[in-house]
Amino acid sequence: QSGKNQGKMEQIVVNGSESQVVVDDSSLLQKKISAIRLGGHAKLQVIADFDATLTKYRVNGCRGQSSHNVLQQEDPEYNDKRQKLYEYYHPLEFDPTIPLDEKAKLMEEWWGKTHALLIEGGVTYNGIQNSVAKATIAFRDGVTELFELLEEKGVPVLIFSAGLADIIEEVLNQKVHRSFKNVRVVSNRMMFDENGHLQSFKGKTIHVLNKNEHALDMAAPLHDHLDDVNGLSDEKSALKKRTNVLLLGDHIGDLGMSDGLDYETRISVGFLNDRVEDSLESYQKAFDILYLNDSSMHGVLKLATHLC
Ligand code: TMP
Repeated sequence: QSGKNQGKMEQIVVNGSESQVVVDDSSLLQKKISAIRLGGHAKLQVIADFDATLTKYRVNGCRGQSSHNVLQQEDPEYNDKRQKLYEYYHPLEFDPTIPLDEKAKLMEEWWGKTHALLIEGGVTYNGIQNSVAKATIAFRDGVTELFELLEEKGVPVLIFSAGLADIIEEVLNQKVHRSFKNVRVVSNRMMFDENGHLQSFKGKTIHVLNKNEHALDMAAPLHDHLDDVNGLSDEKSALKKRTNVLLLGDHIGDLGMSDGLDYETRISVGFLNDRVEDSLESYQKAFDILYLNDSSMHGVLKLATHLC
């Protein structure tokens, strides 16, 4: 335990791999656990980031791919063009000197250009399946069991991402081999024409700077097709009544995913995957529970079992 680190750090070993968990304020965490247990599974919902939160940061020693990076277009020229945009905009995403409103405009610009290249270069559902089959991407151990437990208890899971919903769902199909009726992906969703070619994206673009606002409100475009059967409003109002939250993320900004919800108790779980020394202090203050070293999801599974 470093001198800076005031929190309680425990070494945990799961299936032979070692990781560490840090709890900055264990009495506060205990209070939150008791409050959520009291409310029971009927009041609980889970809001999770996708890339490097549900998925591993490293896969077989390589950096795991994000949902954007996974997608390979048929004409490699378009992959190069998207890569060039990445090289230009990604440093701006992390540039602390750019004011937030200006940065939001730049991010909108980036997402807009990338989406336009995906449409222009042609993406098909078949192409998505092939891209995912070849991708370096894997869920953390324990994610499937976590989703199964939450499904059994009827606890909804909102996966919130500035990536691509269709890719995330295909990763779920191919890596978990089943769907979960309690899991919803809130992300940029493709619309295909009658020939199966990408035609447009549905609803408001979700980028890194607005993804941290109101996951629940952004869920709206995803469920347009349910409007007729009152599915959207029913589902949204049911979610709003679930005022206890288990939030999972790998950036401090991910904490904003629950902003649209007037929650009573929230337990936040963070995954600090990289440059641990630089961010440990701020992350352990921000998250109730912090996992280091690209940890598995087994700790969260244990917590969820206890909560519901
Ligand atoms: P998220 O996974 O935390 O929701 O953030 C999405 C990430 O996707 C963000 O860090 C930037 C990245 N990205 C790409 O890698 N390629 C792209 O074309 C775009 C638009 C974003």
